[in-house]
This record gives sequence, structure tokens and C-alpha cells, in this order.
Amino acid sequence: MSTDLAPPAFLPGQTAEMVSFYRRYGFAVLRGALDLRLVGDLEAECADAQARLIAGELDPGYGTTELIEGDAGERAVRFANYVLRITELSPSARAITRAGAVRAVIHALHGSQCWSGDDDRFGYVYQDARPSAESSYKRIGWHSDWQSGPHLDMWPSTAVTIHIDETGPPNGFLRVVPGSHRWATPAPYENVNGAVVPPGAAPSGGYTDEPPPSAMPLRFEKIPGEIALYAERGDIFFHDCYLWHAAAMATDPDARRRHVRGSWYAGGKPDRYGAGDFVKNAAR
Ligand SMILES: [Fe+2]
Repeated sequence: MSTDLAPPAFLPGQTAEMVSFYRRYGFAVLRGALDLRLVGDLEAECADAQARLIAGELDPGYGTTELIEGDAGERAVRFANYVLRITELSPSARAITRAGAVRAVIHALHGSQCWSGDDDRFGYVYQDARPSAESSYKRIGWHSDWQSGPHLDMWPSTAVTIHIDETGPPNGFLRVVPGSHRWATPAPYENVNGAVVPPGAAPSGGYTDEPPPSAMPLRFEKIPGEIALYAERGDIFFHDCYLWHAAAMATDPDARRRHVRGSWYAGGKPDRYGAGDFVKNAAR
């Protein structure tokens, strides 16, 4: 069976080809950049930080209720799907997010003056998505990352995801609409969370003035042209802040999907973030 239709994964050293693919489709996969022993260390350090956060042994500021679904309540306090600013807690996360293979791609995309997720609202975030009862993070509805702050001038950006677990239908996976980063996607004035878009928001975000062929679905609906992106352990995904994407829920009730994600920004760095500076626009 041919796999010609699968999106390619690029190797370290293929930066030019990878950047060309990214500019066309809004995402790219880097494979083989990480020693799997380092990924093992990352897994252990992140799991330890998560356990300490749940046990109350970490500053509660490393946790968040902003990134989780609105009705999670006590469940979100008892179990932490997210650990914020993980590079402060995990030396391996710090090393990987600064690795030359990552920087080569980011600098080719945004120049050497861009700034890293260490300085943004949440830092690099360890994310543990699972479908089980204790979990408040199982899937994410359609969104572009720009929609989380359309009034800020830190865009464009590229999200970097370091995959600890391979992904696929058993434990969930990323859904993307290739090329959607070029559409002029409206700020989410209509959304299922009832989130208010802050004053001063740009009306749309994307690399051209071409409107999307259809409105972004509010939840998890199928979009013509969308594809699934399956990760291998140690893969590093890059996706654009204007790319339409969502995350599918696991089908195995005991599965976990763990990764570390942060972004690099080419726009202005805010002096500080205000209370309303995160628009939770995607259904979860
Ligand atoms: Fe996102």
C-alpha cells in the first residue's frame, strides 16, 4: 500500500524543504531529531512534576483552570492535565525546546529575533490528554491559536509540540486543515464558550485576504479537506498560529496522549498579560 498521501516527516538537516512545506500547508513534522533516551527523561520528569502538582507539592501557579473546560470544577483541581512552565521543572524539556534542530526551523520561519514560549502566558506546557473520568482534557474543538488573543500583536507564531506518546485513534490525534493558515479567519465573535473577544481585536487573522470557504465549525464537526496527523514518540510538530486544528478524543478508555507544547512568536512581546488576555474559543 502506498503512503504517498500521508504528510511527509522531515529529518534534521531538511530545514529548507520543511519550511517550504510549512509555508504551503501551515504545519510540518520533524522526525528523528531527539535521542529517545532524552524523550524517556522528558517523560519521567514531566510525570514527576504532574504528580507533585496533584499532591500539592508544587506551587499551584504551575497548574491552570484557564485551559480546561468550564464545567470541570473540582475534577480539574483533583487531577492536573496540564503543568505550566514545564521548562522550569524539567531539564529535558528545557534542553529540547532550545535544541538546535528546533531553532533551525523556527529561525528559518521567523528570523532570529523571534521570542520563545518561555515568556508567554503559560510558558511551555506539559499536556496529558486522556478520556478517563478524572480527566478534564480529552479533546479540543476547531480553532486557530491566533484566536486565543486576536487583540495582541505577538503574532504570527509557530507552535512546537514535542510528542512523548505516539498518537493515533487509540489515544487521540491532531486534526488539521492544510492550507487554512492562508485564509482570513475571523476572530471568534461566535463561540460555544460564550467567551468575549477583547476590544481591539483584529477582525481576522491569516496570511491572505481570502475568506475561508466555509465558517469554522463551533465544535468537532468534519471539515472537507481535513487530515489526521499521527505522531511517533519523539516527533516534533510545528503548526502555524493561523492553522485550523482540533484534537480528536481517544477511543481506548485507558489511553494517554502526552506532549510538551509551546510557541515561538515573531510579533511584539506584551509587557504583561491582562486577566482577559486568553480567549478560550475552542470547545473541549
Ligand atoms: Fe491550538
